[in-house]
Amino acid sequence: MYSEKVLDHFQNPRNMGEIEGYNGMGMVGNAKCGDIMQMFIRVNDEGIIEDVGFKTFGCGAAVATSSMATEMIKGKSVDEALKLSNAAVVEALEGLPPVKIHCSVLAEEAVKAAVDDYRKRKAGETGEAQPEEKKPEEENV
Ligand code: FES
Repeated sequence: MYSEKVLDHFQNPRNMGEIEGYNGMGMVGNAKCGDIMQMFIRVNDEGIIEDVGFKTFGCGAAVATSSMATEMIKGKSVDEALKLSNAAVVEALEGLPPVKIHCSVLAEEAVKAAVDDYRKRKAGETGEAQPEEKKPEEENV
């Protein structure tokens, strides 16, 4: 059975939807169940997550875990957000059935992917070298 917290976050998801002016977006999926989660963050110049939103195309536990994850990282620094574990999300939700633990993993991965995207964009803005931007065709000239 689901805890009251899970049911609450499923029925009244917090921070649902794409936010305006986001500068980090992560999208992750689980190949087995086919569920997909998208996380949007807007990070200010001090590295604080000012706003966060999510879109989840998946099960109720995925909606609840992404909703809880957004509450847990809002107002935190990106470094703190990276420390968010799926276990912490599960604990905050007062537990999940074992078959639904992977849903919380998706929430953790979505946060990490959003922070990763934010950092890549920031590095791009400051002109820092991006290894994946190497142009192999030019190397062969
Ligand atoms: S069943 Fe896959 S995310 Fe919940």
